[in-house]
Amino acid sequence: MSDLSPTRSPESNMDDSRSEADAVSMPLIAPLAAEQQSVSIETREVVFDLKDINVYYGTALALEGVTMQIYKNVITAMIGPSGCGKSTFVRSLNRMNDSIPGFRLTGNALYHGNDIYASSVDPVEVRRRIGMVFQKPNPFPKSIYDNVAWAPRILGMRSGLDERVEQALRGAALWDEVKDRLKRSALGLSGGQQQRLCIARSIAIEPDVLLLDEPASALDPIATASIEELMHQLKRDYTLVIVTHNMQQAARVAERTAFFSLEVSEGKRTGVLVEYDDTTKIFTRPSDKRTEDYVTGRFG
Ligand SMILES: Nc1ncnc2c1ncn2[C@@H]1O[C@H](COP(=O)(O)OP(=O)(O)O)[C@@H](O)[C@H]1O
Ligand SMILES: [Mg+2]
Repeated sequence: MSDLSPTRSPESNMDDSRSEADAVSMPLIAPLAAEQQSVSIETREVVFDLKDINVYYGTALALEGVTMQIYKNVITAMIGPSGCGKSTFVRSLNRMNDSIPGFRLTGNALYHGNDIYASSVDPVEVRRRIGMVFQKPNPFPKSIYDNVAWAPRILGMRSGLDERVEQALRGAALWDEVKDRLKRSALGLSGGQQQRLCIARSIAIEPDVLLLDEPASALDPIATASIEELMHQLKRDYTLVIVTHNMQQAARVAERTAFFSLEVSEGKRTGVLVEYDDTTKIFTRPSDKRTEDYVTGRFG
């Protein structure tokens, strides 16, 4: 997993819908299930080792001094008020911000020990390893089959394509619902099915990491529950990073939670990582007053 040298790869989708996360007013969130509490993070392999990451858009400092490690086969949630840089941060993990005019990142972003911003690294190869799913399901106006087969075809993974498509659709818990209509348009699927199709499309090329930026916020509660259930299944094979403004969702799905906030100084607003810990600790015994205010709904 250490070689990030150039190969032919699909461009990941550049669509992004900015979310307007509202403050959620609620009491402290119930602790996680015992299974999730038992994660001993020290024993986990580090996938991302991020040191003092600053992100600028032009002269505006959007994120300042983010230092954290993201662990293999763990679901890590990013929470915090709208505009605190959650999307900026996850998009920096697979170089999805590169095309934004004025984007600049400083600090050290290591992925399996490799600097993903090193000049020798091909951003397309980074995005092949580190897939992304967006808030708004964005299937191509093609058949269900062709959506999933799209990236494997571009990468020349043509042998066993039918099996690969089936595998990806099974992996995204969608196969049983679509196996009899693979040649029909993906646009005929429900929103929740479309989002699982987008996940199938991402995993069809067997990435290492999946970044999900508010993947369920455009979905109804039942479709949301199926995405959350799917995430638990996917973490066996993938490392997952999810942005969510729904704190209960973070508590339900993630073992680790990072709380970002906005610092306001001289009229400038900068996103900072306030606290990063086991999800249970963030929601029940946060170390920082700002985290406590946020998770108890005193601040949004
Ligand atoms: N493409 C962009 N160009 C300029 N500024 C941006 C861009 N995307 C985000 N920003 C700014 O960066 C800050 C963080 O935004 P974002 O990462 O979208 O926050 P969040 O996902 O937490 O709501 C905001 O001030 C936002 O206006
Ligand atoms: Mg966002």
